[in-house]
Amino acid sequence: MVRFITFEGGDGSGKSTQLRLLAEYLSTRGRQVVCTREPGGTNLGKMIRRVLLEAGDEKISPETELFLYLADRAQHVREVVTPALGAGKIVLCDRFTDSTLAYQGYGRGVDLRILEQLNRMASGGVAPDLTFLLDCSPELGLSRTAARMETQKPGGRREDRFERKEHAFHDRVRSGFLELARNDAKRVRLLDAARSIADLHAEIRAIVEPAL
Ligand SMILES: Nc1ncnc2c1ncn2[C@@H]1O[C@H](COP(=O)(O)OP(=O)(O)O)[C@@H](O)[C@H]1O
Ligand SMILES: [Mg+2]
Repeated sequence: MVRFITFEGGDGSGKSTQLRLLAEYLSTRGRQVVCTREPGGTNLGKMIRRVLLEAGDEKISPETELFLYLADRAQHVREVVTPALGAGKIVLCDRFTDSTLAYQGYGRGVDLRILEQLNRMASGGVAPDLTFLLDCSPELGLSRTAARMETQKPGGRREDRFERKEHAFHDRVRSGFLELARNDAKRVRLLDAARSIADLHAEIRAIVEPAL
């Protein structure tokens, strides 16, 4: 039975869009759904998210960044995810442990085996039943978020640290996600995020529906 579903992939791959559509669908089917995200799924997490995303040109070491994400997760799992699952709700989460492996591991070079242990500690062993990996080229994702930011703040500077990171980094993250999907094909469903919003939603629905 599928209870805890995570959405993974690069910026602009459509995670938030697909999470929202699935939540709407499940709600209309009478399911109790909790939508949440990392970082920033708790009040403490929102403070951590602000530190991470607004650090601007401050240099954050990979280890500092890692521990901030893990601190966010530790709080988030205990305050939001576990109680919701315990109450029989379906939890949809925008990014989770796979993002730590992809960004801090494959992207920033932190040892993957150590990351797996730290992920286990931060998540208290709570693991997704099902993960959608929305895969597209970093260029496509970035062009989508650039368009989104233009609408929100015309002519504004793009402040998000990840979105200013170099090309090679995003390529490593993408292939990291793909490797994670290959290594855990039962849990991780790989989706071509270049397809239309409606197509992707239909496929996600078709996977989730029989698994409920
Ligand atoms: N499959 C898609 N095709 C075209 N545009 C998309 C698609 N999915 C999302 N978008 C648009 O791209 C932007 C980023 O989507 P979003 O869901 O916020 O991505 P993420 O949460 O992965 O960063 C939004 O403006 C959204 O409307
Ligand atoms: Mg998003």
